[in-house]
Amino acid sequence: MKPQLPKEFEEMIKKRHEILLKKYLISKKKKIYKIDQYKIVVYPDVFPPFDDSLFFYKFLKKLKNPGRALDIGTGSGILSLGMQKKAKSIVSSDINKKAIKSLKETIKLNKIKNIEPRYSNIFSKINERFGTIVFNAPFMYFKPKNMLERAICDENYRDLEKFLKQVKKHLTKKGKIYLAFSNIGDTNYLRKLIKNNKLKTKLLSKKKAFPISGMNKLFYYIYEIR
Ligand SMILES: C[S@@+](CC[C@H](N)C(=O)[O-])C[C@H]1O[C@@H](n2cnc3c(N)ncnc32)[C@H](O)[C@@H]1O
Repeated sequence: MKPQLPKEFEEMIKKRHEILLKKYLISKKKKIYKIDQYKIVVYPDVFPPFDDSLFFYKFLKKLKNPGRALDIGTGSGILSLGMQKKAKSIVSSDINKKAIKSLKETIKLNKIKNIEPRYSNIFSKINERFGTIVFNAPFMYFKPKNMLERAICDENYRDLEKFLKQVKKHLTKKGKIYLAFSNIGDTNYLRKLIKNNKLKTKLLSKKKAFPISGMNKLFYYIYEIR
């Protein structure tokens, strides 16, 4: 079984993807974003703090006690920053080396002591257990053409599958897993992956996705995975 959305819908989200890449995501130079008290360094080819990132960031800011946290696919590091004030420590991992470089500069710039950037392919370099694990997963199941697209496209959701297969091994007894996803991707397939791995989900929050004309039934979701 492979993820598959209706052809017409696929065409629509591919069009949306091209618009977003050109207008907001592709950049030729290093940028600094200002969010709350943080200055966030983002090198080209790194997913910048976007609409879905901010939605998850605001949700994570409200967590009471994230404890030791893991932010898989940290990108600009924005989700780690959402937990930074309350977490004991945070491991912020990514497969994109430029994301790690960006986050190292952000840490210096903001004099942060409790975030450790770490290069890792999902859990390949993660051996510890955590009280909170978060992942704003790539929503689309197409083959990425480059590292920037890897933030948005996960071919046939192989990385998402890896994440769901291994995530419990990295969680403490009372730990919590939060996953962001969208109906820009195949949510039925996500449900299947969750069931196959004997996990359960609870929808905690939902928001309309970044508006592009004619595409207004798209949403971001935040799930708790148990
Ligand atoms: C949708 S972006 C989210 C970035 C950031 N967390 C945010 O919310 O803005 C997904 C991130 O996952 C990373 N990623 C993709 N595949 C990965 C893998 N196999 N292992 C680790 N990180 C991965 C991408 O490089 C990208 O930074």
